Amino acid sequence: MKKIMAIVREDRFTMVKDALLDIGYPGMTVTEVKGHGNQKGITEQWRGRTYKTDLLKKIQIEMVVADKDVENIVQCILKEAKTGSIGDGKIFISSIDNVVRIRTAERGEAAI
Ligand SMILES: Nc1ncnc2c1ncn2[C@@H]1O[C@H](COP(=O)(O)OP(=O)(O)OP(=O)(O)O)[C@@H](O)[C@H]1O
Ligand SMILES: [Mg+2]
Repeated sequence: MKKIMAIVREDRFTMVKDALLDIGYPGMTVTEVKGHGNQKGITEQWRGRTYKTDLLKKIQIEMVVADKDVENIVQCILKEAKTGSIGDGKIFISSIDNVVRIRTAERGEAAI
């Protein structure tokens, strides 16, 4: 199993979520986060001065999925979240040892 953690633009989140639901992946945890990447936030010019907007609001989506579903989900997020401009976000993929569904005590992929 893998955890997919995607950080996307706020205004792309609904499109990403709806597309993931459409292709059959409803399980997700969503958090409002702040961060910056390579550009360290946007630097804005106003009246000749430079203003640094430090941390930008983004939406973080976490999903734990079977290995075989990772590529499908990554492609879906790429399609919906990409504008082509800086700040589109990032997808981090890591391994998950186990999952337990509390109601039934099922384990592993059966519990996803
Ligand atoms: N290396 C990282 N580790 C953790 N979070 C990151 C990392 N890089 C980016 N993020 C998160 O992703 C958000 C979006 O990053 P962003 O898309 O600006 O990345 P980037 O590497 O600067 O790419 P781009 O050049 O396309 O802007 C950041 O606001 C931050 O929350
Ligand atoms: Mg950036």
